[in-house]
Amino acid sequence: LIASLEQVDQTYIMVKPDGVQRGVVGDIISRFEKKGFKLTGLKLYQCSKDLAEEHYKDLKLKSFFPKLIDYITSGPVVCMAWEGVGVVASARKLIGATDPLQAEPGTIRGDLAVQTGRNIVHGSDSPENGKREIALWFKEGELCEWTPVLTPWLR
Ligand code: TYD
Repeated sequence: LIASLEQVDQTYIMVKPDGVQRGVVGDIISRFEKKGFKLTGLKLYQCSKDLAEEHYKDLKLKSFFPKLIDYITSGPVVCMAWEGVGVVASARKLIGATDPLQAEPGTIRGDLAVQTGRNIVHGSDSPENGKREIALWFKEGELCEWTPVLTPWLR
């Protein structure tokens, strides 16, 4: 009952090309499922340079920007929309620090990655960016509203 009064947010989670190549897509999806969040969108997708640049537009002036765009467009990614109370901040905790060597064991990056430039997964950094990024990566009709059978226990 308390949870139902709290804000339900959406976040954009993306398995980057290294995660797809290394065969850890299922492990990553599983962590969000087991936590209790609701999947509302999912696709394997080869993104264009334009889309990658729009997604990371706030980092345009950073020296690593060209390499970041090359990395994200180097192969298919898995695009996901997840919904739940506090999902944006919680997903960032599940993902761990940007530099995988600083990420705690038990987090996705802490368990599965070593380099900042190959850090395996993306998660939105605010509810506003969650909405923006889901709208950027998914077309209308690709997202599903559905009610999990177990909602009285998890949402
Ligand atoms: P950022 O938004 O700072 O991190 P996060 O993904 O944890 O929200 O940076 C976006 C991505 O840019 C990051 O996941 C990996 C890449 N990146 C680099 O390649 N080098 C860097 O020094 C930084 C800070 C980020």
